[in-house]
Amino acid sequence: MTDNVQMIEILPSLLAADFSRLGEHIAEVEAAGATMLHFDVMDGHFVPNLTMGTPVLQSVRKITRAHLDVHLMIANPDQFAPMFIETGADSVSVHQEVCPHLDRTLRMIQSEGALAGVVLNPSTPVATLDEVLDVVDFVLVMAVNPGFGGQKFLTNSLRKVQQLAERRQRFGLRFKIEIDGGIGASNAADAVKAGAEWLVAGNSVFGAPNPGAAFMALRETAHSGLRQLA
Ligand code: DX5
Ligand code: ZN
Repeated sequence: MTDNVQMIEILPSLLAADFSRLGEHIAEVEAAGATMLHFDVMDGHFVPNLTMGTPVLQSVRKITRAHLDVHLMIANPDQFAPMFIETGADSVSVHQEVCPHLDRTLRMIQSEGALAGVVLNPSTPVATLDEVLDVVDFVLVMAVNPGFGGQKFLTNSLRKVQQLAERRQRFGLRFKIEIDGGIGASNAADAVKAGAEWLVAGNSVFGAPNPGAAFMALRETAHSGLRQLA
């Protein structure tokens, strides 16, 4: 089980941080053991909100060696993914719903030097990814409708994580399963039990009085899910 325990990652979502104290917040979660950070990019078209772009990523890249996981909630990821990779993204995920040439987009991200992920909205079935599961490095299951932090966790997402984990095992594939939206103490263990390894957490980490302590508590809860599997 030791190997599996090491595989679980909590990814603090910078969207929930206080942007006037971004550096401090990143230092707090890194001191608590975070090695991956989640970076939400929204364009006001694909989702009804605007967030941050490459200038913010550039500043973040300068102050951390953590893996930067860029979640593109934008209508034209083919145009912008290379800029984010050039700026320092270690992984980039694109939404299935905006990629008519998904295989090409994923291979482009990999050829630019980042891990390539595909994201499923709550209403998008897992089966839409069957032909790219051998290409992707990770699949991100949205547990909320994308656009805002602090929303309620949708439990159907756990069934989708299970479906992905089944396919991964059946076909002998190695992609990671990430889950994003509404993750906290009440569902982190369930997400791990369903088969997720990368758990994005915004408000449950940065909305807490002590983000470092909240990160560690959530990581412990996630690991308790693994122990229940054993
Ligand atoms: C929502 C974003 C999430 C968000 C999660 O569209 O993709 O990454 O930051 O925030 P919480 O954990 O607060 O739901
Ligand atoms: Zn996200």
